[in-house]
Amino acid sequence: MTSAPLVAVTGAEGFIGSHLTEALVATGHRVRAMAQYNSFSSYGWLETLSADVLDQVEIVLGDVRDPGSVRGLLEGTEAVYHLAALIAIPYSYQAPHSYVDTNVTGTLNVLEAVRALEIPRLVHTSTSETYGTAQTVPITEDHPINTQSPYAASKAGGDRLADSYFASFATPVVTLRPFNTYGPRQSMRAVIPTVIGQVAAGSRTITLGDLRPTRDFTFAVDTARAFLAVGTAPAERVVGRTFNAGTGTEISVGDLVRLIGKVMGAELDVQEDSRRIRPANSEVMRLVADASRLTEATGWQPGFGLETGLERTAEFFRDPGNLARYKTGIYNI
Ligand SMILES: NC(=O)c1ccc[n+]([C@@H]2O[C@H](COP(=O)([O-])OP(=O)(O)OC[C@H]3O[C@@H](n4cnc5c(N)ncnc54)[C@H](O)[C@@H]3O)[C@@H](O)[C@H]2O)c1
Repeated sequence: MTSAPLVAVTGAEGFIGSHLTEALVATGHRVRAMAQYNSFSSYGWLETLSADVLDQVEIVLGDVRDPGSVRGLLEGTEAVYHLAALIAIPYSYQAPHSYVDTNVTGTLNVLEAVRALEIPRLVHTSTSETYGTAQTVPITEDHPINTQSPYAASKAGGDRLADSYFASFATPVVTLRPFNTYGPRQSMRAVIPTVIGQVAAGSRTITLGDLRPTRDFTFAVDTARAFLAVGTAPAERVVGRTFNAGTGTEISVGDLVRLIGKVMGAELDVQEDSRRIRPANSEVMRLVADASRLTEATGWQPGFGLETGLERTAEFFRDPGNLARYKTGIYNI
């Protein structure tokens, strides 16, 4: 018998969820991890975690769109980290209904289960995309919400439901709003794996979308620590509040490509791919975080600078076993 607290993670088999699962186990938790039901019985990135970690992880196949599936996942847990979502912006242009089903209704199902089962803490995951192009910098949590893509709108819908459950039912929810996260295991839909993956696969001509937008990139280990910080802080400090997680520094996509070239020792040529350009009013041109609220409430600070994080990410993608899991030759939406 172990007395380690049992927590639930949705989206545990994904990029950030798998890092969070490792961080939770490293800090003495047991994890009931939801991987989305699929006919391959694939557990996603959870399959690659070490045996020591997996010893403390109970993997459950399920779906956040299904209320019973969510309720079963949450029963007997002391905290819930809700990360499951559809996250790709381009695919949200094509399949917006599925984003509402997953990101809005899925979040409602989690809130309902937390309320019914009286789970003491829910960490809901938002995104910096809900702010749209920065109107003031750095972006604080009081910045207006301006949803420029169906993805952002569906995430903001989940956020508003979370706020409303706190106001209406005192549901103990805290919202973490990560800025762009990168690192090992990220899918090739995101810009850093797109560049590093192509370079690791031997290409020196990189195909990308708009090079002008700036982003605030946080290494996945730091983002996982931010989840842990708001999931374990005393309730009076965090519950009912929203927290940005970001580094406070920004870099344009063009400069990022140059930095990756330097880190990987490669001369890179960039070719614009028109399929990767977002509709003009949908492109978020600038994002940079003010995370001082999170630092004040929990002491969280990012530990990785961009160059170190990129080196770690490049190391991951250079491993042929890891690279083989990706399709570097196509446009991954
Ligand atoms: N990656 C970033 O830069 C970033 C930035 C801000 C916020 N976020 C948020 O962080 C969370 C995790 O994102 P990620 O980058 O790890 O993406 P990801 O796609 O790797 O992880 C999302 C996971 O959710 C699962 N999922 C999707 N639909 C589901 C369903 N119906 N039922 C159960 N599971 C389902 C997917 O299988 C996937 O494993 C998301 O909520 C995302 O919106 C990510």
